[in-house]
Amino acid sequence: MPPTPIRLAVAGAQGRMGQAVLKAIEARDGVCLQSAFGRPGPSQHELSGVDVVIDFTSPEGSADLSALCADHGGPALVLGATGFTPAQDAKIAAAAEAIAIVRSGNFSLGVNVLLGLVGQAARALPAQTYDIEIAETHHRRKVDAPSGTALMLGRAAADARGLTLEGAAIPAREGFVGPRPVGGIGFSVVRGGGIVGEHSVLFAAEDEILTLSHSARDRGLFARGAVEAALWVATQSPGLYDMQDVLGFPPA
Ligand SMILES: NC(=O)c1ccc[n+]([C@@H]2O[C@H](COP(=O)([O-])OP(=O)(O)OC[C@H]3O[C@@H](n4cnc5c(N)ncnc54)[C@H](OP(=O)(O)O)[C@@H]3O)[C@@H](O)[C@H]2O)c1
Repeated sequence: MPPTPIRLAVAGAQGRMGQAVLKAIEARDGVCLQSAFGRPGPSQHELSGVDVVIDFTSPEGSADLSALCADHGGPALVLGATGFTPAQDAKIAAAAEAIAIVRSGNFSLGVNVLLGLVGQAARALPAQTYDIEIAETHHRRKVDAPSGTALMLGRAAADARGLTLEGAAIPAREGFVGPRPVGGIGFSVVRGGGIVGEHSVLFAAEDEILTLSHSARDRGLFARGAVEAALWVATQSPGLYDMQDVLGFPPA
């Protein structure tokens, strides 16, 4: 059991999310900032005495940090980057055998509630009749697409229908693509300006449309969720967790 306050470090501290996390730490009782890192990431020596690192760098940065922490038995991690390759996913899963890691493409309470609602709707509305389309909009500097959140929403829908996202996903369309495959989950992406993050999931039948949507207005929202995840993971056994675990939501 780590002492109170929980001692946090921030990786990617000069980035947009890193800056928001620093503010969230300052505003939250029960945590304190031990250190903040830009490039290059921290050495193990610089992490001594840290309970949890909150990392919003990049898939490469998060995978490397996971291996470093796992090799030394800690600290625990909260990982927020999106756009991981299968090899990077595997590196993080291997690290989670030695340390506790919370990883989520979205730390907002609203999106984590939305995941459950999407699963419920996908289960209730038959694939033969209701086509699922996921649309997301983000700021011009975002480098991965579709967003990590859009993929989480797609996975929730696919799981609820007994499908795999890899099998059901219809990526961006262009040209003569033919009719829409039954049971497919379509994705579309918009990038522009400073938009923090918009997601909508459409269930479209011939005679009705259900839309479930979420709009993030400030990235402080994600930062506060990441700090809550850090408080939670500080007392967990090694393993790979997500925000649904932190919030205590039942499996979808
Ligand atoms: N999970 C969520 O709720 C959530 C919410 C918002 C964003 N995100 C994700 O969080 C990530 C960061 O977003 P952001 O908008 O904060 O990006 P950003 O402004 O570009 O910040 C990323 C920071 O990490 C640094 N960095 C990148 N790769 C690194 C590495 N290998 N080692 C050390 N430092 C590294 C960058 O340094 P340089 O500038 O030198 O490259 C930059 O300071 C993205 O993947 C984004 O999709 C997740």
